[in-house]
Amino acid sequence: MLNDTITHAERELYLTLLELAQQQPSAYEWLTRLPTWLNDIKNKANYAHAPAYQASVARLPQLTVNHVDLNSDTLTIEASLNESQRKQTTALLKQLMPWRKGPFQIGGQIGDDESGIKIDTEWHSDWKWQRVAPHLSRLDGRRVLDVGGGSGYHGWRMAGAGADTVIIIDPSCLFYHQFMAIRHFVGSADAHTHNTGRYRTHYIPVPLEALPEHSQLFDTVFSMGVLYHRQSPFEHLQQLKGQLVKGGELVLETLVIEGDANTVLVPHDRYAQMNNVYFLPSVAALIGWLEKAGFSEVRCVDVAVTSMEEQRKTEWMTYHSLIDFLDPNDSTKTIEGYPAPMRATLIAKK
Ligand SMILES: C[S@@+](CC[C@H](N)C(=O)[O-])C[C@H]1O[C@@H](n2cnc3c(N)ncnc32)[C@H](O)[C@@H]1O
Repeated sequence: MLNDTITHAERELYLTLLELAQQQPSAYEWLTRLPTWLNDIKNKANYAHAPAYQASVARLPQLTVNHVDLNSDTLTIEASLNESQRKQTTALLKQLMPWRKGPFQIGGQIGDDESGIKIDTEWHSDWKWQRVAPHLSRLDGRRVLDVGGGSGYHGWRMAGAGADTVIIIDPSCLFYHQFMAIRHFVGSADAHTHNTGRYRTHYIPVPLEALPEHSQLFDTVFSMGVLYHRQSPFEHLQQLKGQLVKGGELVLETLVIEGDANTVLVPHDRYAQMNNVYFLPSVAALIGWLEKAGFSEVRCVDVAVTSMEEQRKTEWMTYHSLIDFLDPNDSTKTIEGYPAPMRATLIAKK
């Protein structure tokens, strides 16, 4: 029997936007575009794998879930799994590989991945969350947008930290369906306990540029791991700003290099084997960019060199990973000779 997880999640998203539009008319524009956004991601002509991903999600079994803790580093859905459910679930989740952002666990109990299915993702996304979370204005009651949210791991953590509503956006068809697979097991565990009982965590499969420009709907906007993929960083900063309410908080995490306010690296070809990397500023330059884009109270709260423990090949992501992207004789350099990946988190006010 097939489940209706995706349809149900879409309905919850519609109703959430409808409620929002009653307070903030700019959300009507989102409602107008939503049918196109949600149909496009199902269109085989756009995404050859879409029907297969949908089928994998729809065939996930219904489990009896005992507890979901959106605050645990390994985002764990505690449930009892019999052997056939475990085999079926593992096989279906593996059809959604590569799993890059996580970790997740389905079945068993927190801290016991023997009896559950542990999706050991390429990235320890929990480590990034640990670096970022202590510096945020409290998320309780806030409306949050996570731009480029991947599988949705951080979005769930934002809900776990008390956000009233989380909207994750990302143009990847695969990551959208990974989110839906996790949504299937989370069920209504993230729902509001008061009044509506509506889901708090939603996903729209679009890039930031597709959103209405000056929505001003969100108290906090996250852009983590996206800026360096953008050809026009200032446009990206303006688009982020347009989604924030006045006084709202931007959380920007991106690749940086050492240097002064005038230092920016534009890799000529690939950077760490990625062919879509454009601007890597120094922290000082990035602060200047944010100020020039009109943000205030700009501060850098964390700088971290990415380690081979944080990003690595696993059973759930079997392609090349960081170790293959660095110079085998000097891990402070990428294989192309650029400084190895170092990431900074900046927080700013609109
Ligand atoms: C390096 S991953 C970062 C994932 C996650 N935010 C994190 O920090 O771990 C970059 C993500 O941004 C998404 N992305 C790329 N261009 C985007 C755009 N224009 N708008 C929104 N997301 C985008 C990609 O699909 C990918 O999932």
